[in-house]
Amino acid sequence: MTLEIKKVGVIGAGTMGSGIAAHLANAGVEVLLLDMRQSGFGQKNKLAEEAIERLQKTDPAALMTPKAAKLITPGNLEDDLDALSACDWVIEVIVENVEVKRSLYQKLEALLKPHTIVSSNTSTILLKELIKDRTKAFQASFMITHFFNPPRYMRLLEVVKGPNTDSKKYETIKNFADIRLGKSVVDCHDTPGFVGNRIGVFWLQLAVLEAIQQGIKVEEVDALFSKPMGIPKTGVFGLIDLVGLDLMPLIGKSLRDNLPSDDAYCHLEQDTPVIKKMIEEGYTGRKGKGGFYRINRDTGEKIKEVIDLKTGVYSKADKIKLSALENTNNLKDLLSYPDQYGKYTWSVLSQFLSYVTSHAPEIANDIVSIDTAMKLGYGWKYGPFELLDKIGTEWFVKKLKEEGKTVPSLLEKIGSNSFYKVQNGKLHYFTFAGDHQEVQRLPGQLLLSDIKLSSQPLAKNGSAALWDIGDGVVCLEFTSKMNSIDLDIMKMIMKAIEIVQKDYKALVIHNEGQNFSAGANIGLALFAANCALWPLIEQLVGEGQQAYKALKYAPFPVVGAPSGMALGGGCEVLLHCDAIQAHAESYIGLVEVGVGLIPSWGGCKEMLGRWLNHNKRAGGAMVAVGKVFEMIGTATVAKSAYEAKEMLFLNDQDEITMNRDRLLADAKKKALELVKNYRPPEEHTYSLPGSVARVALSMAVKGFVKAGKATPYDEEVSKHLATILSGGDVDITEAQGEEGILKLEREAFMVLIKNSKTLARMEHILATGKPLRN
Ligand code: NAI
Repeated sequence: MTLEIKKVGVIGAGTMGSGIAAHLANAGVEVLLLDMRQSGFGQKNKLAEEAIERLQKTDPAALMTPKAAKLITPGNLEDDLDALSACDWVIEVIVENVEVKRSLYQKLEALLKPHTIVSSNTSTILLKELIKDRTKAFQASFMITHFFNPPRYMRLLEVVKGPNTDSKKYETIKNFADIRLGKSVVDCHDTPGFVGNRIGVFWLQLAVLEAIQQGIKVEEVDALFSKPMGIPKTGVFGLIDLVGLDLMPLIGKSLRDNLPSDDAYCHLEQDTPVIKKMIEEGYTGRKGKGGFYRINRDTGEKIKEVIDLKTGVYSKADKIKLSALENTNNLKDLLSYPDQYGKYTWSVLSQFLSYVTSHAPEIANDIVSIDTAMKLGYGWKYGPFELLDKIGTEWFVKKLKEEGKTVPSLLEKIGSNSFYKVQNGKLHYFTFAGDHQEVQRLPGQLLLSDIKLSSQPLAKNGSAALWDIGDGVVCLEFTSKMNSIDLDIMKMIMKAIEIVQKDYKALVIHNEGQNFSAGANIGLALFAANCALWPLIEQLVGEGQQAYKALKYAPFPVVGAPSGMALGGGCEVLLHCDAIQAHAESYIGLVEVGVGLIPSWGGCKEMLGRWLNHNKRAGGAMVAVGKVFEMIGTATVAKSAYEAKEMLFLNDQDEITMNRDRLLADAKKKALELVKNYRPPEEHTYSLPGSVARVALSMAVKGFVKAGKATPYDEEVSKHLATILSGGDVDITEAQGEEGILKLEREAFMVLIKNSKTLARMEHILATGKPLRN
């Protein structure tokens, strides 16, 4: 049994406090946001009020929908302190100063109810230091909840409990953070910097110092410590720019103050004159004038520059080529490559991995926690122990020994084994006690990657696969590059319909890629268009329409479970599902106009159907047509699943899962609920206004072209869109079926794909990833 969290008090409305408040509001929770009282008439809540205003403007957005801001009430720590007693959880997010935090807790102790949970977002201070003088009752209510910045997007939450923390309260917060806030919760021991910062800051500091000592350039370091290791492209220096150069010395000092003096971190040289000078001159990173990288606009052009660590002088950042990267294809090769880059990479990575393996048992319960912290807190594709498995522990240890380095006992223990291995179809990890145990998932978590370890696909081709996910449910997984949609996926949809109809109850469409689908395979379409393979293109359009339609009318429920981007054809497949269970971080939209096309796999048809029939929409058919025209015509993408609901990419009864690891289980549950009494939907009929609407919509676009907000080719594409959405050559009294709209989609597509301007847009997006405004 866990306690209920309905209202949360957040104290401190700075970067983290406001971000945490926003994310609680994203979860539908009421928040009281307090900061220091300001003087002046009407100014007392100024800090919290301004924070709430800022939240509505940040990019990327802190709020999943602007409406969420209404759940946050501003206040101040003098007038509204008592109001905290009505909160179930109070999170302290004020300045990183132990005395200031302690004095706040003293005040809270006097007023909070026994059931209230209190936590600190401290990044470096030990729990035992924070609650030193507090009562037993306060200690029982207290824990550390360390969110990462930005709180909405960073999936890691580190939690720390003390010897007196009430376990029911601790479990309540872990459970709430997991299910309602979508966080992966990692238990950390009460040690300085917990897990992420302890080893992450060591890695950053070490990589910087070794680069300075060995004369490796900023952009070289970032090339080495990114793609080859599955680390985000910001690498080392780009990440420090993002975090803020000025924050690094503060975190570094706090770590040094709290770590024993023989800790390897305390032996790293701290004084780096070039960085000190940069901070003094305002080069604090992206939030300041720039950092190791900066954008120079002096010539009127945007030129990316990079600093020389020796001279402190900026020069143009060129794309660099490193011999070590070109001539190696795995991490082990890179680490042993006989040039300065191989030497540098080995030197940093070997010290880092030795540090992690030496301290792992002291900072966390298991290696999985440490890998999770680096993957979700720093965006690494592989955690340190997964990296060690990739390199090969035996080889790593041998090389350490050859260099006369100390081998950490955990590495001695593992011998020729690997930290992770699959036994009986289940993933196992190496425990600190020296055996392998199964990686446990929480109840309500189901991962396709786990299912794949223990089974073979029901069917598979170059772009998709079908998996039995238990209880009579099949999962259709896209596996193509960027999960782009092609003929193989259409074929697998038809295969799924055949298999489920015969032997199963329901279908879920889901994958664990970063993005559900980037849309149709443009490269393929462009190739076919350049070869004038018009019949092939028409086949692709027609077969796609029929496959999606077959999905919609299949005699069993189909549930879409997207996460990340679901664009173009990826959005259209969702529009044909019976229901959606969306990850909150789903970005859904019909973006075809960006490449000079219109949605033609039933996207126009389905969006029209939704807007025409939505019971809360005011106005006649013209309003619905206008709304869909605006959304598709401007390639609008919902920035969260909540926004997707407002735009009707999701229906009212579709549901949202905050935690990605729970998405497949929730989707499967939804599919099984629909199985009872399932009847396929009825076909839409469309009564559309015809030429009256077409002319009105075209006039509106003309206005945009005149105002310079749209190009003449945008107008041409919009003209076709207007024809489809207004129903073609009909008037409002003539009803037509879905096939009528699909025919209009096909006709428009075939005209546009033959236009050189469309081809230019497609080529451009493939080459640059950005739309061409021709
Ligand atoms: P911030 O400087 O942006 O905000 C701190 C807030 O505390 C300010 O709004 C300030 O008015 C308020 N404050 C200052 N003194 C106060 C006092 N005596 N009483 C009440 N309120 C006071 O700081 P930020 O970055 O939001 O950090 C807050 C906490 O979160 C710190 O403990 C920090 O270590 C931790 N943290 C910060 C992260 C980051 O990336 N910035 C990441 C994770 C944790």
